[in-house]
Amino acid sequence: MGERRKTIKQLAQMKRAAQPIAMMTAYDYPSAVLAEQAGADIVLIGDSLAQVVQGHTATSSVTLDDVVYHTRIVARAVRTPLIVADMPFGTYHGSDDRTIDHVVALVQDGGAHAVKMEGADVCGAVRAAVRVGVPVFGHLGVQPQSVHRHGGYFVQGKTVHDAEQLREDALRLQEAGACAIVLELVTAHVAQEITEALDIPTIGIGSGACCDGQVLVFHDIVGYDPLPHRPKSFVKAYAAAADVMRDALKQFVQDVRSGAFPSPSHAHAPSEEEKR
Ligand code: KIV
Repeated sequence: MGERRKTIKQLAQMKRAAQPIAMMTAYDYPSAVLAEQAGADIVLIGDSLAQVVQGHTATSSVTLDDVVYHTRIVARAVRTPLIVADMPFGTYHGSDDRTIDHVVALVQDGGAHAVKMEGADVCGAVRAAVRVGVPVFGHLGVQPQSVHRHGGYFVQGKTVHDAEQLREDALRLQEAGACAIVLELVTAHVAQEITEALDIPTIGIGSGACCDGQVLVFHDIVGYDPLPHRPKSFVKAYAAAADVMRDALKQFVQDVRSGAFPSPSHAHAPSEEEKR
């Protein structure tokens, strides 16, 4: 029998057993299959798809339809990781009914098992989703959907006041029913304190080694960024996929121009039998 789908209960057990949780984003069939083959516990259809797939500059450009579309593709590809879909900007800040409609779209049309919401002021939306039976990942620290309010991507939790606020926010999200919290760009010691204070797992990105798990964007892990962007200090690129792919594509173009491709072995000639 194959491996079973990761559950929220297992993620909580992993925290208790100090077994780190590995989460990565995926947006399409090949990236999702690779994530599963790599043994990811969770795949996130992140609204980072705005930047890494769609060429936008901010995650706020992503629509609910976009996330549903990409979630459906990822859900078709994976059997074992838990599938978490980001709730796009503006889809969980209205009435509970509206939030529930959007959560239902991600679960029913997309195939998500859980959703993720950014911020500390979303406890009502968390409760609404949990009420209809959908687990919610919180997201504190840097919140790309409200980057303009924060004025940029700055490390969070540096002052005593900010650290205290983050701890309170995390506890409020837990109390509202969140099943895990992503901590983005939070100072390592505050991330550790929050992790120790919570019963639910924390998943860090740029928040040090003491979270219960780590998440990175697929394209960052494999170095699939064809344009030279400012390197993110918290990212470890395990490959240089863009370089490998560019070299392959250049070789193809060169071979077409030189006539080296296709060679006779790439063409279909009728067999002796077919000729008769
Ligand atoms: O959208 C995303 O990829 C995310 C991760 C950075 C956690 O939210």
